[in-house]
This record gives sequence, structure tokens and C-alpha cells, in this order.
Amino acid sequence: MRFAIEDHPRWDEEKKRLLLETHSYIFPVEEMKLGDPLPQIWGRLVDDNDSVRGFMYITSREEDEGGDGGEAEDEISLVIDPSVQSNGFGRILLEKAEEHLRSKGNLLATVRVQPSNPRAFELIDWFYRKDYICYWPGVSNNEPKSVEFAKNIVGRQQDVTLKKNLSQ
Ligand SMILES: CC(C)(COP(=O)(O)OP(=O)(O)OC[C@H]1O[C@@H](n2cnc3c(N)ncnc32)[C@H](O)[C@@H]1OP(=O)(O)O)[C@@H](O)C(=O)NCCC(=O)NCCS
Repeated sequence: MRFAIEDHPRWDEEKKRLLLETHSYIFPVEEMKLGDPLPQIWGRLVDDNDSVRGFMYITSREEDEGGDGGEAEDEISLVIDPSVQSNGFGRILLEKAEEHLRSKGNLLATVRVQPSNPRAFELIDWFYRKDYICYWPGVSNNEPKSVEFAKNIVGRQQDVTLKKNLSQ
């Protein structure tokens, strides 16, 4: 098994295959052309037979939400080939993504669980087990919204909630 951050990430067959079912609300798979450059940071996990088992991608909040000039808060997304889920690959990719954020000087990693995710409850538990803290519970005007989590990736976990609340 090997992991690599992509130098010039582009939309390709493997991404299309893995993201089709669960991430098409972000990547309009039918409209995207193979070879299109992608703005996120992408990393892929490849097995010994060169099959792609999963991707992580990191979206910069400054990039997609205007940002406030403060500390970059990058959001990690994960997708694992459905045929090999629950074999520990998600955990590996999450750790690699956090490692990458630490190497670029970030203190926080964020993740979000969409209410439309059929495994939302399971996933929320999973992120809690990975030391993520919920700072936005995902309900607004009685409407379900995405549940947002953050983790202090340099070790001072108690700072997360306060920091997130101050930046709202
Ligand atoms: C959510 C997702 C990324 C998790 O990846 P995964 O590879 O299935 O997750 P893991 O195998 O690392 O962990 C799931 C559970 O499987 C079990 N597991 C892990 N390794 C295992 C192993 N070697 N043998 C048996 N079970 C194992 C554990 O219970 C584990 O939970 P734990 O790490 O808290 O102990 C993946 O299911 C997925 O791509 N889902 C669809 C897309 C999605 O919803 N993405 C989330 C948007 S951020």
C-alpha cells in the first residue's frame, strides 16, 4: 500500500469511479471532463496491484468561502472504494491528510458530515473516535445541515471549541 500527494491533480477515471456515488453533489461527475485541473490538494492510496483504494482531498476554506484573512482552515474529505471499506484505509487516509496539514503549518483540521450521507450517524461516531470535536451541530431552523467537526492536530485539543466559536 502506498500513499502519494498528487503534483497536479486532475479529474481522472479513478476519481470519477470512486466519487460518483457519494460526492457527486460536489463534483458534477457528468459535467466534468477527464483531465480537468482540480483546485483541491489530492492524495491517493494505491495497493500493491496499482489499484486506487481511496482518495483524500483537502479544500481550503479561504478558497471556497472567501475567508477572513485568519488562519487557514482546511477541510478534509475522504472516499474509499466501497469494495474495501472497513479495512482501515479510511483511518490511514485521515492520518495522511492530517500529516499533510501539519506539514504546511496548520493547527486545525476540519471535516463535515452531510445529512444526506446514508451513513451519517456511523460517520459521526467514527470522527468522534478519531478525536474530532463537533463545533457546529448541523441543525438550523429545524433543517438538517452538515455537521462540522474540528481537531487540533498539534495536540492542544481543548482549544478547538473556543477557537471555532470565536471565529464564527
Ligand atoms: C467514511 C469512510 C471514508 C471510512 O473509510 P473506511 O476505510 O471504511 O474506514 P476504516 O476501515 O478506517 O474505519 C471504519 C471501521 O472499520 C473497522 N476496521 C478498521 N480496520 C479494520 C480491519 N483491519 N479489519 C476489520 N475492521 C476494521 C473499525 O471498526 C473502524 O472503525 P475505527 O477506526 O474507529 O476502529 C468510507 O466508508 C467512505 O469512503 N465512505 C463513503 C464516502 C463518505 O461518506 N465519505 C465521508 C465524507 S468526509
